[in-house]
Amino acid sequence: MTTTEDLKIDVKTLAGWLAKKIPVTIVDVRPKAEREEWLIPGSLHADAYDKLKADDPHALDDLNPQADIPVVTVCGSGRTSLKAAELLKQRGYDAYSLDGGMKAWNYAWNTAETMFHDVKVIQVRRSSKGVLSYIIGSADEAVVIDAALDPLVYLDIAKANGWTIRYVTDTHVHADFISRTRELASASMAKHLVIEKANVEYPFTPVRDGQLIKFGNAALEVIHTPGHTLESTSFRLDDDAIFTGDTLFVDGVGRPDLKANHDEAVERSRMLFRSLNQLLNLNQNAWILPAHTSVAVPFDNNLVTGTIKILKEKLDMLRLSETEFADYTMSRIPPTPPNYLTIAALNRQGSHEGYVPADLEAGANRCAIG
Ligand SMILES: [Fe+2]
Repeated sequence: MTTTEDLKIDVKTLAGWLAKKIPVTIVDVRPKAEREEWLIPGSLHADAYDKLKADDPHALDDLNPQADIPVVTVCGSGRTSLKAAELLKQRGYDAYSLDGGMKAWNYAWNTAETMFHDVKVIQVRRSSKGVLSYIIGSADEAVVIDAALDPLVYLDIAKANGWTIRYVTDTHVHADFISRTRELASASMAKHLVIEKANVEYPFTPVRDGQLIKFGNAALEVIHTPGHTLESTSFRLDDDAIFTGDTLFVDGVGRPDLKANHDEAVERSRMLFRSLNQLLNLNQNAWILPAHTSVAVPFDNNLVTGTIKILKEKLDMLRLSETEFADYTMSRIPPTPPNYLTIAALNRQGSHEGYVPADLEAGANRCAIG
């Protein structure tokens, strides 16, 4: 007899299947509007939410996924998808329901990596929200930028590569996910670096524009790039790569308006223009490694990146004058990210005690202006 528990599949197992390219059909049963906010890449949509909620036994009669591979149903928190998995099981499918739904899938992650000479860069990606963090290793030491997952994820990667995490840092005070940098600092005994004079309420080791952060045989140069936020900082790895946070993405630039009134946002978009100009004048073949991407990250092991040259060709806004750029960004401000005021306040404070990150972080990622 099949029990409810037999029908459940957890996030780790499904992410493992995707990473190993094990064939699976993922059927998203949420209403269309929710799917437009965020989804699992490659999933199909079954527009049957109301029927499933009403226990209609024919809710999925129109759905005919491939018969010989497993089917995983997904909804917001894993209850309606369980009904969908039951219906598919009755029809003979090897069906499962994603336990915890999208709220749990928020923490599904994968990696992509590359070498720049003898420096290894691993991009650690939270798939659904497109949150990108980095662990950069040289010899037996590593630096982590924008930790966005449980500290164990980074500690395990460091261990597998023979690295000690020497420094941790954030490119800025994030407003769309809870930074795990402080937790990682205490779990790894790494030094927590933050650009000097940053408006945060926890103790940190200040770094200044132009300073070199040395680890192993490598160094990252600190570049203060205000605009998206006042403390926004980028990190340059020689002529090879620049970790740009939310200053420059592969499909746009960071929004300048969060926690700013109109005049402040205009001023910040001008600052962003000047910061971008500084970055765009670095080595044209340097790879831009941002903190976000606007689409869910597939389990494809391909780095989310582009060279300065490629991004200049692709993004018209990078060729505007300062005034045109400010007008353009101000005219394309997207809706604010869910719970951004609370998330930014907690990140400024450096603690999310009393809050459940999964509740605050669910939903779309809206940091870019494209
Ligand atoms: Fe941001």
